[in-house]
Amino acid sequence: MLEQVAEIIRHAQRGVVLTGAGMSAESGVPTFRGNEGLWAKFRPEDLATMDAFIANSKLVWEWYKWRRDLIRQVKPNPGHYALAELARWIPDFTLVTQNVDGLHRLAGSERVLEIHGNILKNKCIACDRAIELDDEIDPKQIPACPHCGGKIRPDVVWFGEMLPEETIQEAFEAAERADIFLSVGTSALVHPAATLPVVAKRHGAILVEINPDETPLTGLADFNFAAKSGELLPELVEMLSRVGKTE
Ligand code: OAD
Repeated sequence: MLEQVAEIIRHAQRGVVLTGAGMSAESGVPTFRGNEGLWAKFRPEDLATMDAFIANSKLVWEWYKWRRDLIRQVKPNPGHYALAELARWIPDFTLVTQNVDGLHRLAGSERVLEIHGNILKNKCIACDRAIELDDEIDPKQIPACPHCGGKIRPDVVWFGEMLPEETIQEAFEAAERADIFLSVGTSALVHPAATLPVVAKRHGAILVEINPDETPLTGLADFNFAAKSGELLPELVEMLSRVGKTE
């Protein structure tokens, strides 16, 4: 089956990869809907919202600070490196990630559509300006925006918020023109990200899913690999390099 996917990629002109938290699991970043980790008792839907921030910004910042500390310590895994490599095999290649950890760029992927933002960046809750700070946020003393005095928040998309408009539009355009779409390590539960593979398939793309567990996409996909992305993606790229690109 993997050889068949490699063959499709050899002929593909346009491809999209959508990644989710499972992509970074082998780097040691807990997934959102997994049961491990210190914060497993909280649901992301209860912390990653404006309502939660207004009600208890200290708790929300404690959660983000824990995640930031963790993310600063982890490294890309072989799956991230394989995707950076895969970009060389498909002329029109778009990498869309729901992950806010920045690991794709660290692995060398040059163009990454971070549709849920980046956890290491800050912005103002009121005027939405990007804010650069020298020191990490202290949840007990959240700094105020130097422009308008609003509270500083992480620059990620929270539940109920719009995604960055140009970025998500670019992702949908890429999905519509894709010959092949790979959905990797995402539970495909959070929209609009989860709509991307459906749109791609509707427009004629071959849909490939890489996920040890079943998701709402599993029945729709042309190829399912119940495997870890950090193992399967390097195998795929290795297979591609053995034969080379078909013009
Ligand atoms: P989830 O935690 O919902 O799903 C992670 C998926 O990765 C699951 O389906 C796992 O089976 C799979 N998985 C685990 N280990 C894997 C591995 N080694 N290789 C491949 N797959 C593996 O994370 P997301 O789908 O990314 O949104 O969640 C989507 C969004 O919900 C997140 O971006 C975040 C969250 O709330 C915002 O922050 C806006």
